[in-house]
Amino acid sequence: MTDGYQQGFATQDQELSGVSLQVNGLLPSWLQGTLVRNGPAKFEVGEHGLRHWFDGLAMLHSFTIEAGCVQYVNKFIDSPSYRYAQEHGRLGYSEFATDPCRSIFKRVATLFRPKFGINTSVSVSKLADQFVAWTEMPHPIEFDPQSLRTIGVVDFADDLKLHTATPHPHLEPTTGDTINVSLRFGATSAYVVYKMPANSSRRQLVASMPVREPAYMHSFALTDAYVVLAEYPLVVNPRRLLLSGKPFAENLQWQPERGTQFLVIRKADGALVGRYRCPAFFCFHHVNAFEHGDELIVDLIAYPDANVIQALYLDVLREPRADGVVHPPNELRRYHVPLSGGAVWHETLADEWLELPRVNYERCHMRPYRFVYGTGLSKQRRDDFSNQLVKIDVEQRTATAWYEPGCYPGEPVFVPAPHAVEEDEGVVLSVVLDARHNTSFLLVLDGRTFSEVARAAAPHRIPFGFHGEFFAG
Ligand SMILES: [Fe+2]
Repeated sequence: MTDGYQQGFATQDQELSGVSLQVNGLLPSWLQGTLVRNGPAKFEVGEHGLRHWFDGLAMLHSFTIEAGCVQYVNKFIDSPSYRYAQEHGRLGYSEFATDPCRSIFKRVATLFRPKFGINTSVSVSKLADQFVAWTEMPHPIEFDPQSLRTIGVVDFADDLKLHTATPHPHLEPTTGDTINVSLRFGATSAYVVYKMPANSSRRQLVASMPVREPAYMHSFALTDAYVVLAEYPLVVNPRRLLLSGKPFAENLQWQPERGTQFLVIRKADGALVGRYRCPAFFCFHHVNAFEHGDELIVDLIAYPDANVIQALYLDVLREPRADGVVHPPNELRRYHVPLSGGAVWHETLADEWLELPRVNYERCHMRPYRFVYGTGLSKQRRDDFSNQLVKIDVEQRTATAWYEPGCYPGEPVFVPAPHAVEEDEGVVLSVVLDARHNTSFLLVLDGRTFSEVARAAAPHRIPFGFHGEFFAG
């Protein structure tokens, strides 16, 4: 372990509550609410290290902003995985790329009894009136947004049998429904699209599409009329998954000859409108999508293959390759999917490495838009972990960056100003690891200029997280 970005992959087991942070700069008076962030914070259980960044046990961090002051709370999520690890001093359930020694019987039980092995370390959202944390399992975990205390695994009032779900559910703006995509494994496996009305805990089936070897999908896209799945050729054989004795990640097979297919599903009746094939690529994060005449525009962060998953194993991240490259290359791409036929094509929207992309969701989701915010990689320091924040103008094809040596910012969350006229009128919030001082801070950037407005010093180092949300208060 060095004193650089690797600090972001070291365990932080100090839990704090109600800590007032010192603020440098002036927070906008309209900025009232709580930024809740999710991510792994414990990378060893007993004597055993977890293997992959995605496997670390989940911790929530909250920054409550009120009247120019910031209060901080952090707490482990008391998930079945965390509870078992605390009580037994060893890992009890299979994570993405780490598997305890278990019998085939227990493996089957893990897959088909969804309360097992839920380590919700990826994202947070508001689901009906509940604040929940997600991973790639179908059931999120509810938490109290003030204390961050775990309330419990969410039980849905339906009998949908699902085995995964993306940690990036979407909100349907016209109805307030939550829409998500799941896998169901079985004799006949399927991609399942469901929706959950805002005032209900009952998921409703939108579409179910049989698939022999499902693809790993971390997110998906919505447009006014359609749900869009990008089916990468990174597939899992369900039978082998059950019997292989290996964790999920090691059952994924890259089969580029399949290409990548956009599956376009009509929301109104769940019908598969079409499959639209293009050369193979892989992606974790869709950025936005919308309809343009007879074409779907699908913006996403594309990798040439799935090697990025290998690059995120903790031993690789902690001891980078000899050539110093930490991040496999990626591109912000705009895919054009012609619904009435013709070839799928894409253009590159930015000459920037980009991840953890965010847009002004309330205003721009499913609409033409101009700005994407993300973590980036400075051209001066390509041999580094993501070390800057970027704002991409997808119309002008330009980029603006925030960079500070020795600092490693996390996902930028855009918060619109009240009564904003311009799309980028607001602030961008990011939790930054300051490797120079073995600590972290909350950074507040002006959305328009991308210059610093304020920062609030956290009381300790916060490991790299994945996603968060700002809940206006
Ligand atoms: Fe994600």
